[in-house]
Order: sequence, then C-alpha cells, then structure tokens
Amino acid sequence: MVSLEEIIHSYNSGAPLAEASTIPSTWYTDEGLYQLEMQTVFARSWQMVCRVDQVSQPGQYVTGEIAGEPILVVRGDDDRLRGFFNVCRHHAAEIMTEPEGIVKQLRCPYHAWTYSLSGELKGTPDFAGVCDFNRSANSLVPLDIGVWEQWVFVRVEGSGTLASFLGTDLVNQTRQLGLAGLHWMERRHYSFDCNWKVFVDNYLDGGYHVPHLHKGLDSVLDYHKYMIENGEHFCLQWSPVVSEGAEAQTGAVRRGDRALYYWIYPNYMINWYAGSMDTNLVIPRGVDKTEVIFDFYFQDVSAGARERNLASIEVGQRIQDEDVDICKSVQRGLRSRSYNAGRLSVRREAGEHLFHQLLHSDLKAGIEG
Ligand code: FES
Ligand SMILES: [Fe+2]
Repeated sequence: MVSLEEIIHSYNSGAPLAEASTIPSTWYTDEGLYQLEMQTVFARSWQMVCRVDQVSQPGQYVTGEIAGEPILVVRGDDDRLRGFFNVCRHHAAEIMTEPEGIVKQLRCPYHAWTYSLSGELKGTPDFAGVCDFNRSANSLVPLDIGVWEQWVFVRVEGSGTLASFLGTDLVNQTRQLGLAGLHWMERRHYSFDCNWKVFVDNYLDGGYHVPHLHKGLDSVLDYHKYMIENGEHFCLQWSPVVSEGAEAQTGAVRRGDRALYYWIYPNYMINWYAGSMDTNLVIPRGVDKTEVIFDFYFQDVSAGARERNLASIEVGQRIQDEDVDICKSVQRGLRSRSYNAGRLSVRREAGEHLFHQLLHSDLKAGIEG
C-alpha cells in the first residue's frame, strides 16, 4: 500500500516547465487523496457561491455546499452580505433547504429554532429549564465572504481576503472588460465521468486539443497566436478571433477580436467574448464524477436577442459534448497500470503546470497539518 504522503511526494513541483511532468495518475483515482483535496484545496480556497444579483435585497439567500458541507449566503437587514454554515446549532439539520429565496428570518425546519439574518439565535421553542445554555454562543457559524465583479465567494477556512487571493493583476484586467454590462440569462449543468482535475487539465491545455476535438471552435480561433499567461493563482489563455473561414454556427455567435479564458484556482473559469460570457464552476462529485455548472451571460438579454443568445449557448453545449468523451477516456487511461505521468508541452501547457504546482502546495500543507 502506498501512503498518501508517498503519493503527494511523488510529484516534483520544483521542476521547470521544460522538465516537468504532470501529477501522477494516482492523484486522479485515489480515494484518500480525493478526501484530502476536499479538506485542503476546496475547504481552504475561495469558492464561488452565487451572483450578487441573487442576494441584492435584505433577506435574500442562496444555499450551497463546499467540500461536502452545507453553506448559506444571506443579505442582512443592515444590507451586509454574510456567509454561514447552513447547519443548525441544535441537532445539525440544514436550516435553509431551498436553493434560494427571500425570508425575514432563518428558521430551521426540524424543531423550529430561528436565527436572525445576521446569524444570531433568536427562537428556541420548549427550551426553558436548560442549564448553562448560552444563546449568544449558539449563533450560526460564520464563513469568510468576498465579492468580486458579479460574484459572491466564500471560504470555509484560511486567512487573507478574496482581493489579495485574486491579486491586483487579475482584478485590474477584468475591470477593463466591463463585466457588469453582461447579464445572466441561463444556467446549465453538465456531468463528466472523470476526476475534476481531468476537466481542469483539459481546459488548461493552451488550446492544444482544440484543432483536433473542436472543429467549430477551431475555425474562429487563431491557433498559432493562442497565448498562455500565468498569474499567481490564475491563468489567462487568450486567442484572436477570426471571421474568415469560420464555421457558420460558431462564427455567428463568436465575434469580436479576441476570446479570453480565465481560470481561477482551483475550479472557476470565466470565458469572455465580445458581448457574451460564460462561467464554469467545477464541482467534484466523487473521485471520478464531476459536475460543471455553466452560467451564460449576455450584453443584451431582451426578448429580441433571445434566439441569438440561445444559439450561442448551443455552441457552448456542443463544445462541452465534444469534451465529455475525451474526459471519460482519459479517466479510463489514468486507471491503467501502463500510465503514471506524462510530459507537458512548453508551448501549450504552462497553465496545467501552474495548476499542478498549486495543488501540490495545498496538499503538502494538508498532510503536514
Ligand atoms: S436541528 Fe434545528 S431546530 Fe433542531
Ligand atoms: Fe475542450
């Protein structure tokens, strides 16, 4: 039996890109490593929970789950946004059970304990005579929260602000894109039969697979000018968009002069085109099951633009469908005794290299306690 320590130390994170290999295949298949990722990579990173417009009014809330733990974001009567574990202090039931809504107070469905929108315990029916019960010590347990552009992020544990994690470089770059002018239209869920990192690797391969798997997308991107730029905790991949020779369906909805693909460690992506954007939230659902939530945004979300926007979403859908089979195929290959790790293209795969190094750093910190 190989220990978790050995699995983690078998990756050499110090090798420069030209000498580097991918993380070993056991990282994609080992149950113990998956659990460690939940407790380190996911519990200690900023996770996108919802859009700001979903919690713009006092009492509006959104529920979610991070690393298997129920969480909740709610706007208070004082207009402040707060994050909490969505876990009742009485016997641990989830307090809010809808995906989102608007309420005056937070009421647990089990025995009707109530909490204010700022998390203080207010009502405890039939609790007279309980000794040494400190009400104020039974408030909801808070989470770190931060807002960036249109999104609310929370973090289960760790230190530092969201802004310092994102870094001024990323914040300044996205500020210039005018993301506030893009409006959410639709959400779609995709399911992949692979480890979550297979999906992220596929995203971060610098367009390497695009000419081979995505003929439509390839027809609008200038493959030879595709650029990869690593930040501290993010990677920007971008490509000029060309109209000449574009495949009709893709060309009709992918315009402008460039496409920008931002990946933010560990599991959030922002894909920007002139007049539209989609975001991908990658959620591990098991060692070889991954859910990816796509949110589609457009500059014009009027009824008149609906058909065109749906055509754009369809192009996105087709690209995902094209990736589903290859991700499943990679996951099968990773389970083969014949494969351990592979080398990286210097021209294309710097983003994957960064991803693997950041993972290694978090996992190493995790086993060292
Ligand atoms: S578990 Fe919430 S009131 Fe009992
Ligand atoms: Fe792809």
